Amino acid sequence: MRLQSHPFPVSDTIIYMNALPTYEEIVSLHKKHAPSQAAFDLVFTHCQIVWELAEQLIQKSSLSVNSELVKVGCLLHDIGVYRLYLPDGEIDHANYIKHGTEGYTLLKEEGFDELLSRFASCHTGVGLTKDEIEEEDLPIPPADYFAETPEEQLVMYADKFHTKTTPPKFMTADTYAEKQKKFGEEKAERFRQFQKRFGTPNLQALAEKYGSEII
Ligand SMILES: [Fe+2]
Repeated sequence: MRLQSHPFPVSDTIIYMNALPTYEEIVSLHKKHAPSQAAFDLVFTHCQIVWELAEQLIQKSSLSVNSELVKVGCLLHDIGVYRLYLPDGEIDHANYIKHGTEGYTLLKEEGFDELLSRFASCHTGVGLTKDEIEEEDLPIPPADYFAETPEEQLVMYADKFHTKTTPPKFMTADTYAEKQKKFGEEKAERFRQFQKRFGTPNLQALAEKYGSEII
């Protein structure tokens, strides 16, 4: 599943790509890296839900994005979580912030290019700055991690509406914005800017489909 690298105009919605991995190839990749069936079920289902949220927003808000690329980005974005499972089957929550960069490394090791690997490294919160990482001594290489292309931004945004808690839950825009305030008002404001641009997904039907609560 090796993809050739190619020139990637970050600010341009027209993306020149070689073949994207198929749905089946992505499922196989998840199964290869998941330490257990339970881990696969949790992480892959979440990725699938993030795609369903993004797909809904693409249609509802008539977004001008490459939807096939968004789908692949959604399905791959959390693959690094598998590297944070402890031997007892629990996720290492203390180091959870690493799952984006771990995913980026995993995807690069699997031969994916920058275009696809970045979906993992730039989806955490509404973005992380080098200063924050240094000030808070976070366990990831100090750098700015921001979703830049419309496709990266939509994957990052859609991810905010579903959480892999036990049991997993859907989260409204208001709940997410409120939670962000503890990291600073500017984080909540940044989220609201994305909400204006991409719209607000209807969570009800998805919550019923997956039997999950909305908080
Ligand atoms: Fe996620």
